[in-house]
Amino acid sequence: MIEIVRTVAEMRARRAAWRRQGLSVGLVPTMGYLHEGHASLIETAAATDDRVIVSVYVNERQFGPGEDLERYPRDIERDLAVCERAGADILFNPESAEMYAADHSTTVHMAGITDELCGRSRPGHFDGVCLVVSKLFNIAEPDRAYFGQKDAQQLLVIRRMVRDLNFNIELIGCPTVREPDGLAKSSRNAYLSDDERSAAPILHRALACGLTLCEQGCRDASRVRRAVSDALAEEPLAQVEYVEVVSTDSVQPVERIDAEVLCAIAVRIGGTRLIDNFMFDPE
Ligand code: PAJ
Repeated sequence: MIEIVRTVAEMRARRAAWRRQGLSVGLVPTMGYLHEGHASLIETAAATDDRVIVSVYVNERQFGPGEDLERYPRDIERDLAVCERAGADILFNPESAEMYAADHSTTVHMAGITDELCGRSRPGHFDGVCLVVSKLFNIAEPDRAYFGQKDAQQLLVIRRMVRDLNFNIELIGCPTVREPDGLAKSSRNAYLSDDERSAAPILHRALACGLTLCEQGCRDASRVRRAVSDALAEEPLAQVEYVEVVSTDSVQPVERIDAEVLCAIAVRIGGTRLIDNFMFDPE
């Protein structure tokens, strides 16, 4: 039977009991309003680890001014049911005051790989993500943590943070779960009107054009970018924020595709910002 834990002290006590029993622990950090993408992470964790903690916390520190913090969708009862079905043991759902003391003053800043892609349009976003994820790692002390490939830059950032700060945690990247028409599942899809929802699969279709080019042997990153941008331009409701081809090591734009790359896009459909990506390794 799944249980909700709301305090750090109780979470630590549960974790300590599992350690005494020699059980391995997987952590799936989320901001809630769970969908099949989150569920697939939880299922993978449940298949790998003896016990699974899902955190549901809308982390104010990773939202910029004017972003959707206040209207971010929430439904903890539904989240509990999704967690239970997917095989989680604990839903960790702390209040904001439990996570951040009024005089909380420590930050986690990552330079370089956070300057591109979403980091460029959302300054401070990845510092907020690194801060909350390192807190969750310290609270839950998982053996493994599960993140989606859908947020590819986030996964690269967390990988680097784990390496740089010597967290003793194995990171597991999980594939993007999509709607039948290719749209990547996202809590933010709930913001889309009917017309916008019909337009949104353009992200996936445009990326498919870029991936096909790569698979056909194109190694010119600007041609790949152009193919993706041209496909996006056919959808009048799509406003492109970026289309980039970057190295998965440095997250810096490349000209030639001669090692693994991430092709990532951010597109506004109406008022909703959506992201998607593919990875391609020429080797
Ligand atoms: P959130 O957007 O709720 O996503 C939680 C996890 O689910 C992330 O690892 C994300 O990559 C994964 N995910 C989302 N949509 C997915 C999909 N369609 N297929 C597979 N995985 C998917 O990402 C965050 O929350 C936050 O930044 C967080 C890491 C929790 C820190 O606050």
